[in-house]
Amino acid sequence: MEFIPDTKNTPEEYKKILFWQNGKTEKSIIEILITKEINTYKKLKEAIIYEKNLPKSTYEKMKIYNNLQIEIDDTDVDNLKPKEMLYISLDGSKFTELNYINQYEILEFIKSGGYGEVLLAKNKITNKKVSIKKIDLNGFSTEELYSISREALYLSSLQHKNIIKIYGSFAYKNYLYNVMEYAEGGELTQLIRSNEELSENRIKDIFKQIYEGVQFIHENEVIHRDLKPNNILFLDKEKTQVVIIDFGISGISNCYIKEVIKAGTFKFLSPEILFRENFDSSPKIDIWALGVILYLMNFKQYPFDGENDKEIYEKIGNEDLEFPYGIKIKKSLINLLKGMFEKNPKRRIDINDKLFDIWFNDNSDNYKVFVKDKKKRKFRAIPDRNNNNVEENEEIPHYYRLTKSTRAKNNNKGKI
Ligand SMILES: Nc1ncnc2c1ncn2[C@@H]1O[C@H](COP(=O)(O)OP(=O)(O)O)[C@@H](O)[C@H]1O
Ligand SMILES: [Mg+2]
Repeated sequence: MEFIPDTKNTPEEYKKILFWQNGKTEKSIIEILITKEINTYKKLKEAIIYEKNLPKSTYEKMKIYNNLQIEIDDTDVDNLKPKEMLYISLDGSKFTELNYINQYEILEFIKSGGYGEVLLAKNKITNKKVSIKKIDLNGFSTEELYSISREALYLSSLQHKNIIKIYGSFAYKNYLYNVMEYAEGGELTQLIRSNEELSENRIKDIFKQIYEGVQFIHENEVIHRDLKPNNILFLDKEKTQVVIIDFGISGISNCYIKEVIKAGTFKFLSPEILFRENFDSSPKIDIWALGVILYLMNFKQYPFDGENDKEIYEKIGNEDLEFPYGIKIKKSLINLLKGMFEKNPKRRIDINDKLFDIWFNDNSDNYKVFVKDKKKRKFRAIPDRNNNNVEENEEIPHYYRLTKSTRAKNNNKGKI
């Protein structure tokens, strides 16, 4: 079982793999250059023993783990990427979470969120900055724990330039740690709140990246469910590269959605979530939220807003989309927003609708200016919770109905 390196290989064919040694906290990194011939677990172990001049007896005991704490196999070895970090135990001890945490030094606290806190840390050896979402697991039900742990699972399967990368996930002493790429440019929220005027091209550039991320998520049959500017980050300080974060409630049951409503983040929620206790979860809820983001970026105000929660609730459910008065708005943008804010999810556009591309590629001067219409009749409707088979109506989503009393009130409105 002697390992003999293939000297005919050119240096480009070598891959540098980093190993973090189990149980050691400082200077425990091992770097190994391996060739493409090393394609099995057995050969990898032999290469380490050869390169590091270790006693041959190490071979039997040695174990190598990936960042998910699982012992690797032949396929993993075959697919190793340059500079990949693996975890090695020379004496056969089990992977320890403490060992994993110890490779990072906590630099500062970034933000506390719904589940715990987000920290900025750096890898002691590579100096690479990462963000660590630390989630306190106390007090959650089994079902909730399951959904919390799913965030890491979703992130590791959704690899896309506009979705945050996850490097590792592990539980230790009642906390779950998700180690992720650090997005140093901050949240989209800050850009929207700043006085900086966003040009049409800048908005398109940012929104297109969010759009492509969501398109990828939907193609993979995942619904994000919590799209909002706090969950859209910039990787770079110049705020050009966009990533979507926070898959904490992706794909989890409707009962959790109620908690989100209570938490007051419903300005991004679609009518079907607000008004129906049991609705079929569909990717269309993300489209509505994307619409709110797009509207906010363009006009720095919410599409459906009000003095209090009840008013906002009603506007989302029952009022037509309005645009700010007296400013030039691209017609293709108006059409796109209208399509995204279709109250009935069945009629709402999906992520592959051509309206997106029409706006992305629209360099024309086709603008519209809205003026205040004093005679505008306002419809108020109440949600129909019991009867889901109300007749389809072009104006009103199928699960809302105008009652006689609301109709009478509306008729009086214009006369005052
Ligand atoms: N990878 C990251 N890089 C930089 N900041 C981050 C990162 N992940 C999260 N944050 C910050 O922490 C906040 C909360 O994280 P998030 O994953 O959205 O958790 P929550 O479920 O609590 O909303 C984000 O809005 C963002 O400001
Ligand atoms: Mg969040």
